[in-house]
Amino acid sequence: MYTRRKGFFLVLEGIDGSGKTSIAFKLLERLKSSGYRVLYTYEPYDSLYVKALKTEYNEYRDAYLDALTYAADRLIHVRTVIEPYLYRGYVVICDRYFYSSVAYQTAQGAPLEWVMEINRPALHPDLAIYLDVDPEEGLRRRRRLKSRFPEYEEKAFLAHVRSVYLELVRRGYLLLVDASRGFDRVYEDVEALVLKHIREKPTLSEQHS
Ligand code: TMP
Repeated sequence: MYTRRKGFFLVLEGIDGSGKTSIAFKLLERLKSSGYRVLYTYEPYDSLYVKALKTEYNEYRDAYLDALTYAADRLIHVRTVIEPYLYRGYVVICDRYFYSSVAYQTAQGAPLEWVMEINRPALHPDLAIYLDVDPEEGLRRRRRLKSRFPEYEEKAFLAHVRSVYLELVRRGYLLLVDASRGFDRVYEDVEALVLKHIREKPTLSEQHS
């Protein structure tokens, strides 16, 4: 079994259009230029489980099947990628993690506590940031991308997703950053939080002293 003592495990969360992927890439460059070894990765990890869900079993999908599939996909991601890189001392930036399952699958109808429970074996990150944006703003930013739903349905669904994220913030699982502001200001806040937490982890900061 690997330990994660050496590396730093960072998760970025948010609804579509919250800007987390752009933030992740800028942070990756910043950390690399400071000498950290950094891995960017994302979920769904698209293991064979998720591929099968989206093809062979697509017509049977519901909140429960999605939640169980994403939980298995996640454990494979943790065992095969996240833990080995942490063991080697990397900063691992993960774009979405089990909080996405809690937010999206709860919004689809699965009980929140059950989704939390099936994700209990997933490694807990050192820091998990939630980029909070109003669904209307998120959709406006993503309008060019096609959606499975009519816009009013999508907005209502994302409002539910956001309310679950906010519940996870209240419970202390996620740190909220206001992502409704301009990119540079959001990025500055994220970077400050990440650097502060990395510096508090002695095994990593030793590499740069
Ligand atoms: P993406 O747009 O960030 O690639 O995410 C793909 C979609 O998958 C996004 O709408 C959120 C959803 N999702 C879940 O419903 N549950 C999960 O556990 C994960 C990781 C993603």
